[in-house]
Amino acid sequence: MVVTPWKVSGKIDYDRLIKKFGTQPLTESILNRINKHAGAIHPLLRRRFFFSHRDLDWILDQYDEGRSFVLYTGRGPSGPVHLGHVVPWIFTKHLQDVFEAKLYFQLTDDEKFLIHPEHTLERVEAFTRDNILDIIAIGFDPEKTKIIADIRDVDALYEIAVKVAKHINFSTVRAVFGFEESSNIGIIFFPAMQAVPAFLESELTGERVPCLIPAAIDQDPYWRVTRDVASKLGYYKPSQIHCKFLPGLGKGGKMSSSIPETCIFMKDSPQAAAKKIMDSFTGGQSTAAEQRRLGGSPEICPVYYYQHYLFEDDDKKVEELWRKCKSGEILCGECKSLLIEKVQDFLVEHQRKREAAKDKVERYLMRHK
Ligand code: TYM
Repeated sequence: MVVTPWKVSGKIDYDRLIKKFGTQPLTESILNRINKHAGAIHPLLRRRFFFSHRDLDWILDQYDEGRSFVLYTGRGPSGPVHLGHVVPWIFTKHLQDVFEAKLYFQLTDDEKFLIHPEHTLERVEAFTRDNILDIIAIGFDPEKTKIIADIRDVDALYEIAVKVAKHINFSTVRAVFGFEESSNIGIIFFPAMQAVPAFLESELTGERVPCLIPAAIDQDPYWRVTRDVASKLGYYKPSQIHCKFLPGLGKGGKMSSSIPETCIFMKDSPQAAAKKIMDSFTGGQSTAAEQRRLGGSPEICPVYYYQHYLFEDDDKKVEELWRKCKSGEILCGECKSLLIEKVQDFLVEHQRKREAAKDKVERYLMRHK
């Protein structure tokens, strides 16, 4: 099992990751504390898509004592946005609504330019402009959201980045990120840039402001370094809430743009999405007769998991789907058709909001240039 910001492979054991990364599992008591403010437990928490955290209890203590916190999340604009990327963003919007929190949303065009040998600056900047529309389409509050693009907004970030960088040595980042002799020096510096938004509100207001970062667990190496530096610079350590990976449509593995045929991109046409789902790997048997006799394996099936994590809010209906699959009552074709309808509706709605976002970009940008 390898989980870094740039590589996720092998069979992911989330319990082992909690131990390996030194995070905490999301307990019932923390969910109840969130529920007190939200009024209902969000399906992504209830179904434990978000499964781990650091200092979430502390940030809730702060909030309960009347101190607000900022949210911070992001995107590395190396291609079009897919369904996996938007899951943490949907949850971030929920947190923004519940806690009326300001959000810093970072686009790490520098990271993607530095890490991918084939990417030019023009290319990542084009993806930055494109991905911003998907971010705005999620519905973040324009009054409370600032989108930062590292290269364009470097003057707002660089002072904090150099302060951070001075406290991180090469052997630390080599151990955390697996850098090698051949790694370019830009990417070695880059973790300092991803730390900055966690401290931005404190720097801008002159007061220490708690920060909560929702993201998938692959980003955790950044937060380990960021947390180490925080106290040395007089900031609070940022808290995290980590999610799992939405699987791709192939056999095993997370949804990843590097295997585009197993990704549902937010710009896919309804027909293209339907075709990909129809071609998807499932937990079904090789013939309909066997499936009726033996039942399927929803525990390895992406089609089931998309319903479970994203498209079916009703717990009873999800349980029913599991049961029908296990008992052979439902076949994969029918199950795929149910999902296709929901995914198509979701994409059409997102694409409508994406189109409308074109007139709103300026309102969200950190800088207007
Ligand atoms: P990036 O662009 O790789 O991913 C964007 C967000 O999506 C999450 N993610 C997934 N979540 C669920 N299922 C998947 N299959 C999946 N694939 C990716 C990532 O964890 C991330 O939350 N370096 C970052 C950009 C960044 C950032 C941040 C992310 C800058 N600051 C703060 C999160 C929080 C990156 O390249 O993300």
